[in-house]
Amino acid sequence: MSLRLGDIAPNFQVQTTSGDIDFYEFLGDSWGILFSHPADYTPVCTTELGKTAVLQDEFAKRNTKVIAVSVDPLDSHFGWVKDINETQHVTVGFPIIADPDRVVATLYDMIHPNASEKTTVRSLFIIGPDKKVKLIITYPASTGRNFNEVLRVLESLQLTANFSVATPADWKHGEDVIVVPAVSTEDAIKKFPKGVNVIKPYLRYTPQPNLES
Ligand code: BEZ
Repeated sequence: MSLRLGDIAPNFQVQTTSGDIDFYEFLGDSWGILFSHPADYTPVCTTELGKTAVLQDEFAKRNTKVIAVSVDPLDSHFGWVKDINETQHVTVGFPIIADPDRVVATLYDMIHPNASEKTTVRSLFIIGPDKKVKLIITYPASTGRNFNEVLRVLESLQLTANFSVATPADWKHGEDVIVVPAVSTEDAIKKFPKGVNVIKPYLRYTPQPNLES
């Protein structure tokens, strides 16, 4: 049975390039991003892990641990990480899970047999500090993901969790956000001292609350 938003992310114990990991212990109270790629030593995956390494400080600033997974073994991962560092001009500082027995791939339904019987598709999960699944995306092997978009969604999720706001279509860091329907306009005016712009009773904007004005 596949995971859905709001489900508890399953725990697991695995070998990774950063040593043995219990997933829940690794996450602690942080947010988490778990993502699969089809195989080591493949071109699109090389760029994806490189881009994740470029953004690893941005994820860390947002109290978020990143961990990648593929069905290749650990010795393959170690060799490939050298190539990623060399070709993408980065230092991969996050763990890559070796999942040759497909334990994680099965728990998280990352193998879609009609796409490939043997390797994982590009699955990505954002997991909250409550261990609940907050985002699921699935891309085909041939399309590299946009990790700036992953960062954007993470920031939106954290704004919702911390300030009861949502983000509109194409929202970018620094732009106005939306007061969630569960908050009355009267309460919103008290809660958001930077102001509330009421376009319709159900469509109310306020400046991004966690920025200094
Ligand atoms: C890649 O990561 O480059 C890739 C993997 C499988 C199919 C196509 C591309």
